[in-house]
This record gives sequence, structure tokens and C-alpha cells, in this order.
Amino acid sequence: MLQEVVKRSERFPSDSKVLIFGGGFSGQHIAKAARKLGAEVLCSRRDFKKKGADFIFDSTSNTLPSKTIFNNVTHVISCIPPEKNGDDPVLRNFGEVLKNIPLKWVGYLSTTGVYGDYKGEWVNEESITIPKQQRSIRRLACEKAWQSLNLPLQILRLPGIYGPGRSTLEVILNQQNPVVNKEGQVFSRIHIDDIAGAIIHLISLYSKSLNPQIINIADNLPANNVEVMKYAFNLLNKPMPRIESFETASKRMNPMALSFWQENRKVSNDILCKDLGYKLIHPDYKSGLNDCLEYTHMNSL
Ligand SMILES: NC(=O)c1ccc[n+]([C@@H]2O[C@H](COP(=O)([O-])OP(=O)(O)OC[C@H]3O[C@@H](n4cnc5c(N)ncnc54)[C@H](OP(=O)(O)O)[C@@H]3O)[C@@H](O)[C@H]2O)c1
Repeated sequence: MLQEVVKRSERFPSDSKVLIFGGGFSGQHIAKAARKLGAEVLCSRRDFKKKGADFIFDSTSNTLPSKTIFNNVTHVISCIPPEKNGDDPVLRNFGEVLKNIPLKWVGYLSTTGVYGDYKGEWVNEESITIPKQQRSIRRLACEKAWQSLNLPLQILRLPGIYGPGRSTLEVILNQQNPVVNKEGQVFSRIHIDDIAGAIIHLISLYSKSLNPQIINIADNLPANNVEVMKYAFNLLNKPMPRIESFETASKRMNPMALSFWQENRKVSNDILCKDLGYKLIHPDYKSGLNDCLEYTHMNSL
């Protein structure tokens, strides 16, 4: 819950202005938390009709905001994925501007897909990046582009993001497919409360020289799909459907869905939680899905 993020976090200094490029699922949650903690926040979306659009930025149609959005900005967070040609949309349009303002902190939301396939082994921030998927190759290139700018930057590598309104519970309510099982396959996850909570924690430590450049933000318990689905069906009081082998299920999967099953790794959060002392609000999918349940019930009535 957002209240929990706010309760546990340090307030922003009173002159803080946070610019969030990409006020989607994670961006909106970070924005809400930062506002409650005293920061002024401006969020981009591609259309004013979308909730929480403070300014419009769409790199595809070249719709750019007024440069005045950068006045007095202290923190910048980018939640926008790479463009199809591999460019970073924020850097292509605003890289020069960002280099010339005295920022206190910059966060780039990346993915743990940059590690590639580790055949079920643990990965940490020192693991060699061997991305195989085109989108992960583009992502790693964007990470490098952000690093080349010499900003007070932290790259936040995220596994599967979930939270109220976008979780396994909605998957179950919106589709009738059997549950897919692939022996030995695990997925790492992170709840949006912990994305917001960890980011605010990292911001508060940054000026104290506790500021590694690359940080995984993941929960404690990478888990198999069947285990998570069983728990979620139980929460919804629905019977678990039949289990289907990955070999069979893969025949009807689209390439995007298939790509997620082709990589297997457990994402370590030791730097975030042990070295930097962040205490997860949702240490595992059980805690996270319980948090999602109320929202799902309210919206499925
Ligand atoms: N979803 C996951 O499981 C996952 C896992 C690991 C990493 N990530 C990455 O983490 C970041 C945040 O994830 P999320 O799930 O919170 O993302 P999201 O809800 O999909 O939000 C993405 C944001 O980027 C904006 N955007 C996309 N293309 C754009 C463009 N060409 N120009 C300007 N804005 C553009 C979207 O605009 P609108 O608001 O107008 O839609 C949206 O605000 C993303 O970079 C995502 O790829 C996601």
C-alpha cells in the first residue's frame, strides 16, 4: 500500500522537484509517493486523456513539452522503454538539457532482462550481461547511453512488475487458459510499492555516498509459475485449472510470451536489502498478492 511506502520513507527536502518521464504503472506510483513526501512532481504521458498527465511527451510523434518543465528540477526518473531503433527516447530529446542542470539524482528504470539466461542460477549486479532478446540488447545499450552522460545516476534493474490492478489475479480473471508448468523455471518479481519505496530509499542515501550505480530491485523469492498461480487461485476462491506442460503451451504462445519462458534466472537483491538496508514491503508474491486482492475484488464486482 502507498501509505506503507510513505510511512517508512524520509521526506524530500522542501525545494525538491521530481520530473518523471513515463507516468505509467510504476511512474504514477512513484509520483504519488513522492508528492505525499513533500516533493513537487511532474509526470509525462503520451496523451492528456490519460490519468496523471502533467505534461505530454511522445518521442514517436515528436510531441515535446515546453522546456520550462526543467525549471528548478532536482530529480529525474525515466520509466520509458527504448525506442524500436534502440535510441533512448528521453536522452535523444533531452540529453543535452539534462547535462546542463544541477541535478541531485537521476533514476533509470531498466530490466533484469539485460542479464540474459542464467539457467536458473542467481544473478547479481556484477553478473556478466549476456542479453539474447532484441529488446534486452536495446535496453543494455540505453543503460550505457545513460551512463555516458556523467549524471548522478542510478540504474534500477527490475524483474516482472506487478501491483494492484496488474497482477496474476487479473490474469486469472481475464483468461481461461490452463496453468503452464516448466520444470525448474522461476520468475523474479517486484511489487510497485517496493519500486517506489526502494527509489525513495536510494535517493535519501545517494548524497551520503551510499550510491552504487546499478541496483537490482527484486523481492526475496523467485518462484515457479505453478506455485504462484496456486496461491492466486486460492486467494480468489477459484479452483485451480489443469496444469499444462510448457512444451504443449508454447505452441499457442505469441513470441513475446514465449520470450519470457526462454530465460531463467533468480535475481539477487543483496545490494539493495543487505548493503543499503532497504526493508521490502512485500518480500514475496504472497504478501504482494494479498495487497492486490482488495483492488481486484473492488473492480471485478
Ligand atoms: N512491466 C514489467 O514487468 C517490466 C519489467 C521490467 C522492466 N520494465 C521497464 O520498467 C519501466 C516501467 O515499467 P512499467 O510497467 O511501469 O511501464 P508502463 O506502465 O508501460 O509505462 C511506460 C511509460 O512510458 C511511456 N512511453 C512509452 N513509449 C513512449 C514514447 N515513445 N515516448 C514517450 N513516452 C513513452 C508510456 O506513456 P503512456 O503513459 O502514455 O502510456 C508510459 O508512461 C519501463 O521502462 C519498462 O519497460 C517493465
